[in-house]
Amino acid sequence: MQSIQALRVNEVHLWQIELKPLAEEKSLARSMLSEDEWLKVNRLRRPEHRQRALSMRIQLRLLLATYLQQEPHSIEFTRDRYGKPQLKNTPLFFNISHSQDAALVAISLHDGLGVDIEHWRPVEQMAGIVKRHFSMAEKERWQTLAAHQHEAVFFHIWTCKEAFIKATGRGLGMGLSRCGFNLSDAYQLEDCPAEYGLPAMWSCLPLALGERVSAAVIVRAESCQVLRYRFEPQFPPQIV
Ligand code: COA
Ligand code: MG
Repeated sequence: MQSIQALRVNEVHLWQIELKPLAEEKSLARSMLSEDEWLKVNRLRRPEHRQRALSMRIQLRLLLATYLQQEPHSIEFTRDRYGKPQLKNTPLFFNISHSQDAALVAISLHDGLGVDIEHWRPVEQMAGIVKRHFSMAEKERWQTLAAHQHEAVFFHIWTCKEAFIKATGRGLGMGLSRCGFNLSDAYQLEDCPAEYGLPAMWSCLPLALGERVSAAVIVRAESCQVLRYRFEPQFPPQIV
């Protein structure tokens, strides 16, 4: 069994989850998922999307149950006014992202937590997306890049932006061009709407997860450490 340290202030626990079919998946799902979760899963049209969504919900509940020290089925979720999922009645915050069969769950004691993962894929109209969704400063720096740098920088910046709009809870409604990241200095947040305070109040932590995949986690804390783990559903971790 995997033992992990209890979550501390200024830490994010970042869990990598593989969205593979689980043993006894249907019966686990029946015993754990809420009606809302079932409805959402069943709205997905493609069978592989339904399977991944089931796997996600089961593994998310197993993981959060470890932190909350309660039964997976008894965990209650709610959504804030822009639709960000939150846990009811606990000081624990989480955010999730999935891309293909990979998912990330970030867990922290800080509100203002967002995570994003994207596998690199061909993007038609990359220049148009940059024009519409990058900030002025990002666009200026983009012009100075060599063509062979475009794909990597595009996905790194994209995941930072998505992690930020998810951290604020606003989602795409905020407008991706309203936050800007430094392309040359480990992707720190440089510009954000005034209602979210100074950029220095946020920590942006890009994550190296493998080839042709970008990921970032952002949290409203001036400094923060990410501890990375891999979730094994048959051996949920124990907190020591
Ligand atoms: N803030 C933070 N997280 C949110 C969120 C919000 N407002 N809304 C949903 N999420 C979480 C959910 O847990 C969701 O997973 P789930 O649906 O399985 O529960 C997860 O983010 C999805 O993230 P990801 O896998 O990275 O998906 P994505 O790359 O498609 O991005 C959002 C999703 C959240 C950025 C996007 O759907 C969004 O902005 N939604 C909010 C509503 C909105 O603004 N709609 C306008 C659409 S034009
Ligand atoms: Mg995403």
